[in-house]
Amino acid sequence: MDLYEAIHNRRSHRLYKPDLPSKEVLERVIDAGLWAPSGTNAQAWEITVLAGKAKDEFVELASGCIPYMEPLLEKAGVPEKGRQMVKGFFKNLGGAPVVIAITIYKAKDEEMQMANTQSGAALVQNLLLAAHAEGLGTCWMTGVLFVEKQLLDYLGKPDQQLLAITPIGFSAKEPPVPPRKEREVRWLGF
Ligand SMILES: Cc1cc2nc3c(=O)[nH]c(=O)nc-3n(C[C@H](O)[C@H](O)[C@H](O)COP(=O)(O)O)c2cc1C
Repeated sequence: MDLYEAIHNRRSHRLYKPDLPSKEVLERVIDAGLWAPSGTNAQAWEITVLAGKAKDEFVELASGCIPYMEPLLEKAGVPEKGRQMVKGFFKNLGGAPVVIAITIYKAKDEEMQMANTQSGAALVQNLLLAAHAEGLGTCWMTGVLFVEKQLLDYLGKPDQQLLAITPIGFSAKEPPVPPRKEREVRWLGF
């Protein structure tokens, strides 16, 4: 798949088929994530891939974020139908057969922490694009960070920071294309 095509056509998927993607494909996707650039090439990240009972237990814990999100959605003016949809998605992550959690190491100073965060984000984007190229859907999620401690404890990584999670699997519903905003791009010195 052409890179620009992948960038433009990748979407956040919120409904999945139960079919398990092959381990070979998942390994290729994760490898693409791990080839992301990182500050000082520290690669201060870890990936956990969950399926089956482990995935179900993790998703159950993650859904504990719903009560924290409800007031925020209301405050943001999300209509009742939208709020129900969000809650439904967070309950079982759209039925995805696999969930990937990305954790990063905690740095001693703010600057390195920022580098670790940005490096981890690069990993996530690589992973999402590779998944799309493999015909798999994903959804970058940070809403679950309301229950970060519980999730890190489950993963056995209480000293790390949970950066994001993504469900991954075959999409069961083509999502709409959220429009992009016009943003100023300044060209200086051309
Ligand atoms: C840092 C980050 C956090 C996000 N967290 C969530 C989330 O918790 N739940 C969710 O449904 N989508 C989440 N998203 C997905 C965005 O809603 C989505 O990327 C955006 O609406 C644009 O849609 P698209 O990805 O289909 O282009 C997140 C995306 C990013 C980059």
